[in-house]
Amino acid sequence: MTHDAGSPVSRTIGRSGSLRGTAHVPGDKSISHRALILGALSVGETRISGLLEGDDVRDTARAMAAFGARVERLGAGEWRVTGVGVGGFAEPEDVIDFGNSGTGVRLVMGAMATTPITATFTGDASLRRRPMGRVTRPLALFGARSFGREGGRLPMTVVGAAEPVPVRYRLPVASAQVKSAVLLAGLNAPGETVVIEPVPTRDHTERMLAGFGADITIEESAEGRVIRLAGHPELAGQRLTVPRDPSSAAFPVAAALMVPGSEIVVPGVGINPTRAGLFETLREMGADIRLENMREEGGEPVADIRVRHTGTLRGIEVPPERAPAMIDEYPILAALAAFAEGDTVMRGIGELRVKESDRIDAMARGLEAVGVPVEEGEDVLVVHGRGPEGVRGGGTIESRLDHRIAMSFACLAMAARDPVTIDDVRPVTTSFPGFFELMVSLAGGAAEEAEQARPLP
Ligand code: S3P
Repeated sequence: MTHDAGSPVSRTIGRSGSLRGTAHVPGDKSISHRALILGALSVGETRISGLLEGDDVRDTARAMAAFGARVERLGAGEWRVTGVGVGGFAEPEDVIDFGNSGTGVRLVMGAMATTPITATFTGDASLRRRPMGRVTRPLALFGARSFGREGGRLPMTVVGAAEPVPVRYRLPVASAQVKSAVLLAGLNAPGETVVIEPVPTRDHTERMLAGFGADITIEESAEGRVIRLAGHPELAGQRLTVPRDPSSAAFPVAAALMVPGSEIVVPGVGINPTRAGLFETLREMGADIRLENMREEGGEPVADIRVRHTGTLRGIEVPPERAPAMIDEYPILAALAAFAEGDTVMRGIGELRVKESDRIDAMARGLEAVGVPVEEGEDVLVVHGRGPEGVRGGGTIESRLDHRIAMSFACLAMAARDPVTIDDVRPVTTSFPGFFELMVSLAGGAAEEAEQARPLP
């Protein structure tokens, strides 16, 4: 769904009382996309509980229907997908609009690239700026062709390979989207498709492929992780429960660390080690954060996260090799770092420049607007922490069609001295429907008065 049509909706957020209680965050976005896509590529019925009902995932659900699967919403978070089987995608009647979702469009390009059909993809102004060549280059090795705008941008038409060949591909960027697109394409190629990732990225696709019955093996080697997938499996429909999203949990967790006197629990959050880098970083900054009741649900590790505001955080240097395990959490980390004592140095984060917005630039300009000094380089951001009471606030933030920029500054506003205005909060629903309601309820309703939703003139 696009947020670049219609009027922006701004919101001004003021200082909050302490946050208390239980924060139920939505289902994991990465896992939700994959559940719908693998359900569509399976034979029989897949039942999904806890699916994220954000705009991004709804776009993937609509896309799967356009490729011929039956996709039904049975109740809140409860979905049924009746799949067409590997190689069974039908040619869509019309252009597929993926709204804001890079994951959706890239994974689905992979999933259709080895079937002899043609599909045209587009998205909102943010997605139309993002590079697709990183996916279409490996898909060309299978025999797929693609025709897009300058720089490999959407709108783009992909013509699936009629006689695909298997591929051996070493990832040139640490990207789970690229890895997943290649693996999904490999499903309908004969023989063995191999992906080598020098730096591990989130492994939900591999786990879920195994769960649906694919023949997939993973081996650590001197080159990195070597993933081998046998082509033409018969995937069988599954019952899945989607864990709650650690990238969404990051917002109430960070807000609780910003607002004195807070203590909250976020239950049932995915803590897959390829996603959990933020929690390690927060501990290094001195945060009191505990993972309780650790268990496994649907092939993914899950825990309840308890976080307490105990005092001042210290700025740290985040190890660059941790970047893939917390790639979506740098915006909220940068906001939290504003309340720390000392500098927080984030290196090796060049990939942030090609997310829903250029997140290094968006955070740097936003932090400056609320009185926090920063330094920025091509792939580095340094936040000069102002201490627990030192963030002035008071500025207007451009959310740039980026849900995580909007939510990061909404959290910062809850502990800044003066209210902060966010120019457009509509993108929040791409990943976190109910975000504002949840934050208001954790604050005991106290934050409500300082807030107002109104369209910009
Ligand atoms: C995702 C992978 C990451 C991440 C995105 C979700 C996924 O992107 O930023 O929000 O579900 O595979 P890259 O693969 O581009 O790093």
